[in-house]
Amino acid sequence: VFARDPAGIAPETTGRPPALSGRPARTYLMCPPAHFAVEYAINPWMDPSTPIDRDRAMAEWERLRATYVSLGHTVHLLEPVEHLPDMVFAANGATVVGGMVMGARFRHPERDGEAEAHRRWFESHGYPRYTPAVHVNEGEGDYVYAYRAIVAGHGFRTDPLAHNELHDAFGLPVVSVALVDPRFYHLDTALCVIDSFTAAYYPGAFDDDGLLKIKTLFPELIEATEEDALAFGLNAVSDGRHVVVPHDAVHLRAELTQRDYDVIPVEMTELRKAGGGPKCCTLELRP
Ligand code: ARG
Repeated sequence: VFARDPAGIAPETTGRPPALSGRPARTYLMCPPAHFAVEYAINPWMDPSTPIDRDRAMAEWERLRATYVSLGHTVHLLEPVEHLPDMVFAANGATVVGGMVMGARFRHPERDGEAEAHRRWFESHGYPRYTPAVHVNEGEGDYVYAYRAIVAGHGFRTDPLAHNELHDAFGLPVVSVALVDPRFYHLDTALCVIDSFTAAYYPGAFDDDGLLKIKTLFPELIEATEEDALAFGLNAVSDGRHVVVPHDAVHLRAELTQRDYDVIPVEMTELRKAGGGPKCCTLELRP
């Protein structure tokens, strides 16, 4: 059994190359849910007849943003655009590694405009290396950065052909896994990287080939229960030390606490009605 990755706390003392370590301070891009709504159904969580409380969505989102800031992270804001009700899920708009950006291309026309809004943000914020997507990929929804590789999901949204573009953009190994349960339509609802050794996952979301790849890639694995997964527990955000987890992922929270991570529970009742949690709202800008 590996000890918890100490790099997340003090990378300068470990001698591990930065690419393989956790970083104490992260930079995130988030988009306030000013125009959030459930107006269409593109995943099994969405039901346009369910009422949503936008003020509550905003308060929950603001709490998430404030949590990151209190942990010493930097949060940049993306201007929300009218008629793009899912834009709060900023993680889907791009993938950023080493200051380079792989653009997104959405599966559903309802979300098309988001990729362009992201592209403009990167263009005006000093990211000259932007690769536009040819094939469908929904950013960090399906691309989970795992330090020495990127785990890339397909099956519901991202086209497996996009995985080649991803490899070309960043030069990192890409480990492709198929998603098999429509409730976990994005990889970031079923797999969460906690630090460079450790990941949490929900086995039921993967086929045998995917499970084997995940087990090969991470020396330490935390198995989430179906209840954890349905609570969007795998849609957690970790900086290697603090893990921001939906409050009702009870079993997963206990597993993380037992391994000495600082677990910070958050409530995201409204955004869940669109099929999202904390990670979906958080695009990491990796320098
Ligand atoms: N309603 C959005 C969709 O179906 C939710 C996106 C959630 N984002 C994520 N990173 N999993 O596309």
